[in-house]
Amino acid sequence: MGLPRTQLMLIVQMLFLFVADPVVVRSVDIDSSASSLDALLQEYAYKGLVNPKTGVPYDAAAPSNMSGISIRALRLRSGSFRRYAVDSFKEFEIPMGVIVQPYVERLVLVYQNLGNWSEVYYPALPGYTYLAPVLGLLAYNGSNLSATNLPELKMRASGDPIHVKFDNIKSLPDGTVAKCVRFNLQGMPNFSSVESGNTCSTIQHGHFSIVVESIAPSPTPTSPPGTVPPPSRKKNTTKVWIIVGSVLGGALLMALLALLVVSICKLKKRKKMEEMERAADMGEPLQMATVGETKAPTATVTRTQPTLETEYVP
Ligand SMILES: *[C@@H]1O[C@H](CO)[C@@H](O)[C@H](O)[C@H]1NC(C)=O
Ligand SMILES: *[C@@H]1O[C@H](CO)[C@@H](O)[C@H](O)[C@H]1NC(C)=O
Repeated sequence: MGLPRTQLMLIVQMLFLFVADPVVVRSVDIDSSASSLDALLQEYAYKGLVNPKTGVPYDAAAPSNMSGISIRALRLRSGSFRRYAVDSFKEFEIPMGVIVQPYVERLVLVYQNLGNWSEVYYPALPGYTYLAPVLGLLAYNGSNLSATNLPELKMRASGDPIHVKFDNIKSLPDGTVAKCVRFNLQGMPNFSSVESGNTCSTIQHGHFSIVVESIAPSPTPTSPPGTVPPPSRKKNTTKVWIIVGSVLGGALLMALLALLVVSICKLKKRKKMEEMERAADMGEPLQMATVGETKAPTATVTRTQPTLETEYVP
């Protein structure tokens, strides 16, 4: 009796997973490639710290197969990091009062400029175009400079925010507004407004850039030139439709499957009921034996076997 219900529950769960899938897959994709890049760049940034002086930034070489990315490392005592500002760590201006968690005695700030690799690791969000490279600011435990795969420390500004002053922002198309974007370590974007034309504020570590919303194609033929959407937009729309299509198709398939299972269960149940009814009609369950073409009940209990007197021969 409990069988159909559990099967139904399973199907509902599968359906839910299937529908939720594209979203999950997308964030996991960004997460895994970007976080393995973070790990790789941490390792390479630490290679630039050979007998480092505390408070002095060192440029490091990015992996040779990733030319175009620049990295810089700065080792600090976390006590002085909290008490003093780091005025210009490339584009970053870090005020006093920034706290890292969990507590470490020494920390290393790692700066990343992903340059022309920005879109490879942080694919432009549908409908947005980058006006600046993606910059990263991350902190790690600095007690062992040959450590790899270190977890990022949480960085939080307790007073003034951290400022990111972008150097060369691409010019803004007419009638558009630039936005700051921050990606957290899971690759999830968060938008905020641009200050003074080129500055973003943050109270946390992460990856930062400036984006502009692509202008949607105008339905009227009188649209001025320059509002032509970038070619990637059409691709993104197609992608979205593919996802929507596969989700709907999958859902339909699941629904059909569920219907099939339910009807099979119903059929089984009805058959069982019929058998039980038939058995009830006959008063007691009798085993059926085929006699010729017709079925006839046979006794289940064997009668006393006839015995021959001759067997009692002394
Ligand atoms: C570059 O090389 C590193 C190994 O040094 C590898 O982990 C990484 O995936 C490579 N990146 C690309 C884009 O080929
Ligand atoms: C970025 O530019 C460098 C040359 O400066 C080139 O070697 C590299 O392949 C480029 N990367 C990408 C993803 O286009």
